[in-house]
Amino acid sequence: MSSQREFDIIIWGASGFTGRLVAEYIFNKYGVNKTVKWAMAGRNTTKLEKVRAEMADESVPLIIADSQDMATLDAMCQRATVICTTVGPYAKYGNKLVEACIKNKTHYCDLAGEVQWMRRMIDQHQDAAVAAGAKIVHTCGFDSIPSDMGVYFMQREIRKQTGKPATSINMRVKAMKGGMSGGTYASMSVMKEEAAKDKSIYKVLTNPYSLNPEGERSGPDKKDLAKVVYDEVSKSWIIPFIMAGINTKVVRRSNALANYPYGKDFLYDEAMMTGDGFGGRIKGFSTAAALGVVMMAKPGSLLKKGVDAMLPEPGEGPNKKERENGFYNLLFFANLKDGSTVTGKVTGDRDPGYGSTSKMLAESAICLALDELPDMAGMLTPATAMGDALLDRLQENAGLTFTYKG
Ligand SMILES: NC(=O)c1ccc[n+]([C@@H]2O[C@H](COP(=O)([O-])OP(=O)(O)OC[C@H]3O[C@@H](n4cnc5c(N)ncnc54)[C@H](OP(=O)(O)O)[C@@H]3O)[C@@H](O)[C@H]2O)c1
Repeated sequence: MSSQREFDIIIWGASGFTGRLVAEYIFNKYGVNKTVKWAMAGRNTTKLEKVRAEMADESVPLIIADSQDMATLDAMCQRATVICTTVGPYAKYGNKLVEACIKNKTHYCDLAGEVQWMRRMIDQHQDAAVAAGAKIVHTCGFDSIPSDMGVYFMQREIRKQTGKPATSINMRVKAMKGGMSGGTYASMSVMKEEAAKDKSIYKVLTNPYSLNPEGERSGPDKKDLAKVVYDEVSKSWIIPFIMAGINTKVVRRSNALANYPYGKDFLYDEAMMTGDGFGGRIKGFSTAAALGVVMMAKPGSLLKKGVDAMLPEPGEGPNKKERENGFYNLLFFANLKDGSTVTGKVTGDRDPGYGSTSKMLAESAICLALDELPDMAGMLTPATAMGDALLDRLQENAGLTFTYKG
């Protein structure tokens, strides 16, 4: 399927930490104006020119669009099949772009992990996005592609083998190495500030089904793990996984949007392994305590100011060596209807948040622009919007592996 518009993809936010990585990945892998027609966009010409100069290729087109200026967003959306945005926090800068994409029948992908904002976007735009035929896809980074596509992959393989989906899947983070950017930390802070001001947001963040369509926001899954426990499934101590609150909701939305191919009673959870025995237990409590300090620090408190001072500013994040030395290894334990268990694995070859995320987002954008996709429109998830086509791209190009062990 070839696109009719001037560009297949516009990367909006290309001057930011993650947007620049997305642009560099596309530049290095696909060149300029060859199989993928693309441009970089942002609010500041000088910053975009600097990113382009570092690529040593002056032919990448630059576009100026500001999050508060609808006319510039409309003009940008009209020129592309897909807008790929890293302009975040999304709850602060993302509203008008989603509206502009739908208005102009432009597909969209982002790295949002802000559940409260995604809930608002779904409520405001689902009907219009369906009517426009636009595919609006949040969470196309580490949250939530490995989880959403991992479950999609496992269920596909299990159905091929047994004819029926697994009744439950437990995802366990066996290992991962990487850092955080200022932009991601800013997005987490915005989410906490909103939840502190409006208690209804707290409900959205804690309801396991809060991203499901209206009338389908309850089910058998409980809230995410909130303590350190020994896990018989993985034979390891496990602790809360910081991304579980986003990923599990996206997996459940995928199931609901696709009319429950995993079953209405499907159970899904995520946690992080810290190892077996006394060492695993100690590591579990110490990691959970450090995580607790970051997550529990109240907006405006001294503790929050102290945490802010230790973490990166917007525009900063892990350096090249840290990104290249990073990786992740996620295990999937699936229970089948006959009581047996099968396992699978998803791995990534760079740090989860940036090296791998930038490749996943870029391939999602290309997939939305160029691939043959399921006939669905609206506020979708990676699995429902792109399914097998994205699975192939992630493995062929983005350094992910999906393994079914049976
Ligand atoms: N889900 C995941 O796995 C994942 C991973 C990484 C990042 N993220 C998310 O991605 C987002 C970006 O993170 P980051 O670290 O790349 O942040 P960043 O370095 O702060 O970049 C933000 C970008 O937004 C642009 N921007 C800010 N205000 C704007 C406006 N009014 N109009 C147009 N552009 C504007 C900035 O432009 P200037 O350069 O002109 O300031 C910059 O290009 C965050 O929301 C983060 O949470 C998610």
